[in-house]
Amino acid sequence: MSDRFELTGSRALVTGATGGLGHAIARALHGRGVELVLTGRRADVLQPLADELNATAIAADLSSSDDLERLVSEAGRIDVLVLNAALPGSGAVLDYTPDQIERAVQVNILSPALLARRFGAEMVDRRRGHIVFIGSLSGLAATKGTGIYSMTKFGVRGLAHGLRQDLHGTGVGVSIVQPGFVRDAGMFADTGLKPPPGAGTATPRQVTDAVISAVERDRAEVNVAPRVLRLAARVGGLAPGLSATLARRLGSDKHAAEFADRQKDKR
Ligand SMILES: NC(=O)c1ccc[n+]([C@@H]2O[C@H](COP(=O)([O-])OP(=O)(O)OC[C@H]3O[C@@H](n4cnc5c(N)ncnc54)[C@H](OP(=O)(O)O)[C@@H]3O)[C@@H](O)[C@H]2O)c1
Repeated sequence: MSDRFELTGSRALVTGATGGLGHAIARALHGRGVELVLTGRRADVLQPLADELNATAIAADLSSSDDLERLVSEAGRIDVLVLNAALPGSGAVLDYTPDQIERAVQVNILSPALLARRFGAEMVDRRRGHIVFIGSLSGLAATKGTGIYSMTKFGVRGLAHGLRQDLHGTGVGVSIVQPGFVRDAGMFADTGLKPPPGAGTATPRQVTDAVISAVERDRAEVNVAPRVLRLAARVGGLAPGLSATLARRLGSDKHAAEFADRQKDKR
């Protein structure tokens, strides 16, 4: 795809619209003249946002196959699919119940795959569309207490890049946007914790800029974090043993326990 994707007048579905980054992405797309279909579980949060942005609201639980089917059938034509919903999946793997592991897989990786398949096929038929997966730098490197989350975000990255190659030449683009720690809104900001020393944070605006640029310029992967964290994630992916030793020296055990504690209610 060499032409710039025209957002104005397009129709987008944003999952996880009730969350911190979902709100920001929805508002940014609305600002670019995109007609929106918004989904999330909490109808009481979804509806006011939909009213504000003159959008269609479809409350759905992405861990339910019935809800997924209903979402697909009610959403109508979708030109831009932003697969943003996810659970934080933090904490030691052995502390998870089988149900919690299953839910993390359903919400974070299975539902994006099923929605991409359904809407992607329609986009290919129309020879126009774009699918954006919201991944994480935890999809490049795993750290202590992120096993469940990284399992899903590594998977989403594989799915995004494989699908991108499948759809090459069809008029449908695929991107993955991978934030590090985001301040002010979203699952990290909700913990009230500081990022690990030296990691730094990004803003929701940087994430929304990345989503828009990924769609307009059909970028394969956009990582949104200060340079040092982007580099650390790359090194962690290439040399996981060395990187784990360094992380332990920087106090990763304490950070992992604090995150798990503050995000326990989102499992
Ligand atoms: N914030 C960060 O620092 C950060 C960093 C890296 C990557 N990310 C990624 O950014 C994306 C957005 O995260 P966020 O920070 O905005 O988190 P958030 O505020 O916790 O929002 C998560 C969203 O996912 C939805 N969700 C969770 N379980 C669901 C289910 N069973 N069915 C339907 N929707 C469900 C939530 O809907 P309800 O609340 O209505 O249930 C909510 O809208 C995620 O993919 C996340 O992994 C975030």
